[in-house]
Amino acid sequence: MISNSEEETKRIGEKIGKKLKKGDVIALYGEFGAGKTVLTKGIAKGLECNEQVKSPSFVFVHEYQGKVPIYHIDLYRANKLEDIMTFGIQEFFSSQGICIIEWAERAKELLPENTIKIELKTLNENTREILMNFDCGL
Ligand SMILES: Nc1ncnc2c1ncn2[C@@H]1O[C@H](COP(=O)(O)OP(=O)(O)OP(=O)(O)O)[C@@H](O)[C@H]1O
Ligand SMILES: [Mg+2]
Repeated sequence: MISNSEEETKRIGEKIGKKLKKGDVIALYGEFGAGKTVLTKGIAKGLECNEQVKSPSFVFVHEYQGKVPIYHIDLYRANKLEDIMTFGIQEFFSSQGICIIEWAERAKELLPENTIKIELKTLNENTREILMNFDCGL
């Protein structure tokens, strides 16, 4: 689908969030500024989270409380698979919450088979193409 604004991407995220279940893992792909964090904000809203979602750039994970716990993971700074293993990403997959991962390609070998994959592509300044293997009713 196509999003023409940050707000529209948030609304798409919100619809996705409403459909998620405990244990779901969402892998986000896309370059800098593609909108992975913006989409995550919408997903958190859809999960009834009132906390402010920030980019977890300087830590690997931020935890938020929605109707279930939300683990927002950013692997941008993870250069080696070993870093990701040390951080213990798999514990978040098997948790009772929802896991959203930016720069998910860095954990390619570790993602569960039923991971929901969402790719954001920048078409121009305000337009993004959003591709996903998940039906959120849009
Ligand atoms: N249609 C759109 N959807 C989402 N963001 C948009 C859109 N149009 C413009 N933007 C802008 O693009 C930027 C997206 O930033 P965001 O932090 O979500 O990117 P990111 O993919 O998380 O990047 P990073 O890899 O650095 O974490 C924001 O500044 C936002 O305002
Ligand atoms: Mg981000």
